[in-house]
Amino acid sequence: MTHSDFLPYALPALDEQEAQAVLEVLRSGWLTTGPKTKQFEEAFARYTGAAHAVAVNSCTAAMHLVLAAWGITHGDEVITTPLTFCATIEAIEYVGARPVLVDIDPATGNIDPNGIEQAITPRTRVLLPVHYGGLPCEMDAIMDIAARHSLRVLEDAAHAAGAAYKGRKIGAIGHATAFSFYANKNMTTGEGGMITTNNPELADRCRILSLHGISRDAWKRYTAAGSWYYEVTELGYKYNMPDVLAAIGLCQLHKLDALNARRQAIAEQYHRAFGEMDFLEPFPPAVPDYSTHVWHLYTILLRLETLRIGRDQFIDELKARGIGVSVHYIPIHFHPHYQGYGWRRGDFPHTEAYYARTISLPLYPSMTDADVSRVMETVYEVGTQWRR
Ligand SMILES: Cc1ncc(COP(=O)(O)O)c(C=O)c1O
Repeated sequence: MTHSDFLPYALPALDEQEAQAVLEVLRSGWLTTGPKTKQFEEAFARYTGAAHAVAVNSCTAAMHLVLAAWGITHGDEVITTPLTFCATIEAIEYVGARPVLVDIDPATGNIDPNGIEQAITPRTRVLLPVHYGGLPCEMDAIMDIAARHSLRVLEDAAHAAGAAYKGRKIGAIGHATAFSFYANKNMTTGEGGMITTNNPELADRCRILSLHGISRDAWKRYTAAGSWYYEVTELGYKYNMPDVLAAIGLCQLHKLDALNARRQAIAEQYHRAFGEMDFLEPFPPAVPDYSTHVWHLYTILLRLETLRIGRDQFIDELKARGIGVSVHYIPIHFHPHYQGYGWRRGDFPHTEAYYARTISLPLYPSMTDADVSRVMETVYEVGTQWRR
């Protein structure tokens, strides 16, 4: 197999438009946070239907800032899912709060709202649902629990740019939403993130905290309109998004619906083909009718009892045939860093069962029909070879 025979697990969808947009910014002489970032924020707010958007340099930073702006701190608890990337948990840890995990609904991979209520204590402050793979969580149930217990809801929408719940775009439902524009996401700026909220005070505070805790439009201090004078009003962070990246984000946002439509078309093809293979189950078994799924991930669940090899060896066999794959996610409580929280193997059985069987397959807009067929045929070949 040559290098060119390898089908990558993920690729960004960039073309001449992004290249030109970046060149324009480089030639403008203004590289860091400025007019392009403002334009990107306004366009993103319009797209999601949120009143405000604050661009930052990652989704991790976005979640950290929201929790910091809400004053979440030591002694507080934040409820989230064990089926997520470490970033979700790290944001909680940055402010000194305690992450509390609630198992997934095995039909969706998302936090099970039925488990949330039992996990609430007098110290709970925030619910932090993750729209796993681009499939929105059951937001009505989550918002209802939050209202009854006076909690705030921060959505981790790293996978969910363009997704919708009951016809409403993700980004304008919870009290705040955090998006990722990391290189493999549905839209990318290389690295980057966005906070959306309908709350003007929260947006203002996040903006100040994202740039050193400096009062009012700190980025303007080098412009003709700005003043050299500034005041640091509190401990802030260096989380701002530069204009070079915002220019890429604006191009990607214009393409987002088309990029997601291609993801959806590939997912449908996969779903049909994998539904016929008796050694696996396509996931989710059905997309709930309340949601628009944007397929950041396409995952299959192996029926391990039908195979003579385990999940890890199945992955090795796919890779040996040139298919890039991944696993989402190693459950949070399996990582060495999280051993101090007292979580044990067996505590989150649905997440653990999911992890034991799951493989994430290539799914991105620039895949050709031939690439898609190759993935389906290769999975079939490996499954058939190792079937019991
Ligand atoms: C569920 C989830 N949350 C948060 C993040 C963090 O995003 P970022 O890399 O933009 O900080 C990721 C990134 O992969 C993610 O998958």
